[in-house]
Amino acid sequence: MTNDKILTASHLYKSFPSRRGDVFALEDVSFGVRPGEFLCIVGPSGCGKTTLLRLLSGLLPPDRGEVRFNGEKLTAPRAEIGLVFQNANLMPWRSVWENVRLPLEISGRADAPDAAGAVRRALKLVGLTEFSHSHPHELSGGMQQRVVIARTLVHQPQVLLLDEPFGALDALTRENLNLELTNLWRELGATVVMVTHNIREAVFLADRVLVLSPRPGRLTAAIPVDISRPRNISLLYDGAFNDVAFRVRQAIRE
Ligand SMILES: Nc1ncnc2c1ncn2[C@@H]1O[C@H](COP(=O)(O)OP(=O)(O)O)[C@@H](O)[C@H]1O
Ligand SMILES: [Mg+2]
Repeated sequence: MTNDKILTASHLYKSFPSRRGDVFALEDVSFGVRPGEFLCIVGPSGCGKTTLLRLLSGLLPPDRGEVRFNGEKLTAPRAEIGLVFQNANLMPWRSVWENVRLPLEISGRADAPDAAGAVRRALKLVGLTEFSHSHPHELSGGMQQRVVIARTLVHQPQVLLLDEPFGALDALTRENLNLELTNLWRELGATVVMVTHNIREAVFLADRVLVLSPRPGRLTAAIPVDISRPRNISLLYDGAFNDVAFRVRQAIRE
């Protein structure tokens, strides 16, 4: 494998035991992610998207195949790879600041001299500096989701893995957060791998869209999105954009 990839997945297989026999979630999935790339992965519900992100984060070992981060085989989670879980929750009794600081506490770094700076930086990146002392119930759903993302940014990951991060939000909030996410990505210079079942969202955000088949998830297409940046909301109503979205739709077998 060439070393111009920050993350590579090679021949990943994953199954789960169940009472009715093994459920094959992923089958022979291979791809590479370039440093700084914004990659989206789309596929129908239950096709193995969450499983794939958990493999890419090092949380879950594959049955066969391997994930490499900067050429090194991944065997456990690491601070350089941040994962935002599907349906991630904040701790309601903690302030925004305390929620974002949580990963530093868990990793024993909350008392390090740069800890407060890391929390401050993460909150600034998502535009919530003024809400440090608020509690989750005082924030809108979109703002809560920005706190969830800030919590992952506190370790300054090189790779950000996002699992349907805006799935529970209304369409307009989602559009705005997608725009903010592209700004954040540009500012951070990070690599993003985001899973979604929303085709238009994927095309709006990504440099490239990977399509997974229904379970067992296999890669059926890799579609480049050659649309210039910065992209804005009007793009969602543009002809070239819709052409790419339709290509992605056709690649999904449902
Ligand atoms: N921990 C688990 N134990 C048993 N089955 C699982 C587990 N995680 C996922 N699965 C199964 O693997 C398949 C893929 O799940 P998932 O990766 O969550 O799909 P998606 O995120 O695309 O909806 C599903 O059939 C799901 O029921
Ligand atoms: Mg999922």
